[in-house]
Amino acid sequence: MTLIERTDDVNSCWRDLADVLKSGISRVLLYGPSGTGKTYAALHHGVGSVPAERLVCTEDLTSGEITGTWMPVGENRWEWREGPAIRAWRGSGGVGGRLVVDEIDRASGDALSTLLAMTDSPESARWRNPETSEWVRPGPQFSVVMTTNVDDLEDIAPSLRDRFPVAICIDRPHCSALASLSDDLRAPALAGSLGPASRRVSLRSFYAFDQLRRHLGTSRAAQLVFGEDAALSVLDALAIAAIA
Ligand SMILES: Nc1ncnc2c1ncn2[C@@H]1O[C@H](COP(=O)(O)OP(=O)(O)OP(=O)(O)O)[C@@H](O)[C@H]1O
Ligand SMILES: [Mg+2]
Repeated sequence: MTLIERTDDVNSCWRDLADVLKSGISRVLLYGPSGTGKTYAALHHGVGSVPAERLVCTEDLTSGEITGTWMPVGENRWEWREGPAIRAWRGSGGVGGRLVVDEIDRASGDALSTLLAMTDSPESARWRNPETSEWVRPGPQFSVVMTTNVDDLEDIAPSLRDRFPVAICIDRPHCSALASLSDDLRAPALAGSLGPASRRVSLRSFYAFDQLRRHLGTSRAAQLVFGEDAALSVLDALAIAAIA
């Protein structure tokens, strides 16, 4: 069995996510360390032909950036431009699409209240377009995947957390993410993502290293990406992987 097959074993978080999405669960929270592919999965897994809509929460996120805002369209004329949450509610032809909400632990104030309304249960959720007065409801295929780096889900507003009964800790990269690295980097990248928090190395570093070493050579690329000390362990891991 290859390394890639082993990472996709039955206990893997990725198997859980695939099973949950296949079962028709439309609210999923992905949490865990940085750079394991939570946002990538939220944007691509179980998404139809219409690209997912994405929101990144910050303390400055406004309600208008979620549901929409008035925009000037000529002299004294304003039009309402629907925001990503409403576009995802509609999807293609009203069937509903995917909304991805990143860094949800940072949502606060008005933005949090609006997110609560946008992620409410399908029976309760509705929003009125201020320009046309049309009542909009989420389409039947509307789904939301939220992501966060917090380890403790208690750090997320309880009302928001309650809307997402399924929370999956994504603690390792997906096999397809490892497969997009050069062969010799796959085992070290998997090992790096599974290490203790203080020594964890994210996929992003391995992608950068993979690219840089083609131009600058292995040692210099390792120093630039991983730093002087960690570079030595990565180079050791590569040497061991080459022998194995
Ligand atoms: N299955 C995949 N195939 C190809 N590339 C991937 C895959 N999963 C993740 N990546 C890439 O790995 C990097 C990290 O992924 P992503 O941004 O989804 O991580 P994350 O878990 O959301 O990190 P953070 O918690 O810091 O937001 C990105 O460059 C992304 O494009
Ligand atoms: Mg992310």
